[in-house]
Amino acid sequence: MADVLSLDDGHVLPLAWLRDMCPCAECIHPSGQRLLDPAQIPLDLAVRVWRAEHGVLHVEWAPDGHRSEYDLSLLLHEPPRRTFDLWDGSAAPNLPMATYAAVTAAGPAGRATMRDWLRGVDRMGCGLLRGVPVEDGAVAAVAELFSHVRVTNYGRWFDVRAVVDPTNLADTSLGLPAHTDNPYRDPVPTLQLLHCLQSSASGGDNVLVDGWHVAAQVRAADREGFAMLASTAVTFRYRDEGADVSATLPILELDDDRTDWAVRGVRFNARSMQPPHLPADRSMAWYRGYTLFARLLADPANQILLHLEPGDLFIVDNRRVLHGRTAYASNADGSSGARHLQGCYADIDGLRSTLAILERDGGA
Ligand code: FE2
Repeated sequence: MADVLSLDDGHVLPLAWLRDMCPCAECIHPSGQRLLDPAQIPLDLAVRVWRAEHGVLHVEWAPDGHRSEYDLSLLLHEPPRRTFDLWDGSAAPNLPMATYAAVTAAGPAGRATMRDWLRGVDRMGCGLLRGVPVEDGAVAAVAELFSHVRVTNYGRWFDVRAVVDPTNLADTSLGLPAHTDNPYRDPVPTLQLLHCLQSSASGGDNVLVDGWHVAAQVRAADREGFAMLASTAVTFRYRDEGADVSATLPILELDDDRTDWAVRGVRFNARSMQPPHLPADRSMAWYRGYTLFARLLADPANQILLHLEPGDLFIVDNRRVLHGRTAYASNADGSSGARHLQGCYADIDGLRSTLAILERDGGA
């Protein structure tokens, strides 16, 4: 028995999918949510009779006699695939930028500015907001303008500054190579915001790199190394007195459609990674990919440099855009200049929901 229905115009429709797509009131609730329980789709599903006329496909199913009517233009419409523009350091002038006052302004103008800024952040995976109030916790208030704060063992927000006896290299004045945050969590926080409260120290510039672009460069240069990064799970771990978190996943996560080998997630942070113990030949290939990835992250041609002033806040899609900083001159007591940032985590589903709502009403 055929498990497809072949239309006269050449379309071939898998039967189980076609049954699942039935738009009748028994199968779809007025809310648009599906009522049909997949357990009700029989394994011996078959078409008893069908006809297509005037753009409508009528099907009577066996064995249960269920009848479906489909609008063929809706049934056969494939939503466009989302495309992403990968970027390198030359994209610095395109960094989505807005002021806090403009995105929080009441009325249509504020909503339109927020929409445009979020749209830019979603496309490029990063953005800059200026003029954020220099206040404790303002970073979390910004996240809540368009998403939900992800509370972690670091709290709703956390300080980033040089301290005595740090448990995290972030809390030193050392330079940090570009990395994603918290790869030791599953699920990983998908947005990170960093807000500058004080920047009188010299150095400490922030660096942003498009990890998807770098992954594409690795893929072009070393197919095997790239494949190893995408297929080898490695363990990331963070421990201190109050937390012990770990996750074991590959450095590169590929799109569902693996035919184009598109990267849709990067976990890259040498500080918390446990080097994977692999057989010698696989280890060499993995390290070729891994070290090439790190070298390309450090290539100035791939980097956008930011010097944050108090009130500046940057946001990154933490699965795509890696961030780092140059070393800065400061003592933990602040005697030679101070650099104080506050960070928080949030999630990109909230950002995309806010963006979709703003797009829906045209931002007005
Ligand atoms: Fe970080």
